[in-house]
Amino acid sequence: MTPCLAVVGSLNMDFVVTVDRLPAPGETVLGWGFQMIPGGKGANQACAAARLAGAAVTVRMAGRVGCDVFADHLKASLSAAGVDVGAVHATRAQPTGVALIWVDRAGQNSIVVASGANHELRPADVGALRAVFRGARFALFQLETPRETVRGAMELARQEGAETILDPAPAQRLPADFLALAGILTPNETEALILLERPPARVPAADAPGLTQALRALGAGRVVLKLGDQGCFYDDGARRIHVPAFPVQVRDSTAAGDVFNAGLAVALAEGRPIEEALRFASASAAISVTRLGAQASVPGRGEVQAFIEAEGA
Ligand code: RIB
Repeated sequence: MTPCLAVVGSLNMDFVVTVDRLPAPGETVLGWGFQMIPGGKGANQACAAARLAGAAVTVRMAGRVGCDVFADHLKASLSAAGVDVGAVHATRAQPTGVALIWVDRAGQNSIVVASGANHELRPADVGALRAVFRGARFALFQLETPRETVRGAMELARQEGAETILDPAPAQRLPADFLALAGILTPNETEALILLERPPARVPAADAPGLTQALRALGAGRVVLKLGDQGCFYDDGARRIHVPAFPVQVRDSTAAGDVFNAGLAVALAEGRPIEEALRFASASAAISVTRLGAQASVPGRGEVQAFIEAEGA
């Protein structure tokens, strides 16, 4: 049977302005380019999973959009990638979510999200998602939809036999019983430190084992800590693996974490060993950061395989 992945989460239209440098509070800067690019953490993960899997994996997405032109664009972008959008429903209560994004010449960004319709995916809607999870090997979640909806959906996914992957983004503290629903927790440095109630800092790769151990003690099953240009660190209690980053010229890091999670889920759903899955995820994210935008930056499966071969990894 074709492996299946389910994604529950946000869909946003990203308004992307490129700037020389990010504005300070109260400052106006002149940008030099503007594009509207399909985004939203959930939709990015679904789009990336479908492109990275090719026909080998079925991807289903559940979410909420408004009744407007952005909704049509976002659903069309997912459908074009091969995602089943049968559970992306429109609401009249709110407009489609949007994200305002500035990207500077070094590829750093600032993002503000107006969630809109994403907030209309309510806990009462969770029961209807059973068909989305049925037969799914992995179910991917993030935190741009209401937290109680995510909690209920993770519980349902587990009942249906799917392993849950939680991207705890945007960063926030989470109760232990929520983290315990995550089969695989995939924070970046900022998210990990906030979950652990520690002050913001750059995390040297040497400190990763301590962080992943602390996150597992909070209740997460397996942890993949995303360390940007230092790679990623995997910890399931029995095995610890550091995968260095692929060296690339960063154009825009938007959605790199989404592409990573999608690559990880695809490779694991195909039955690849964890080291290989982490390399596939890292390579997918590395290619994405060389391009502007969220879904516009997602590579195809063949491209990632060629990149890995060229890197000799
Ligand atoms: O993870 C990147 C995404 O965060 C963007 O596409 C934006 O929509 C925000 O949700």
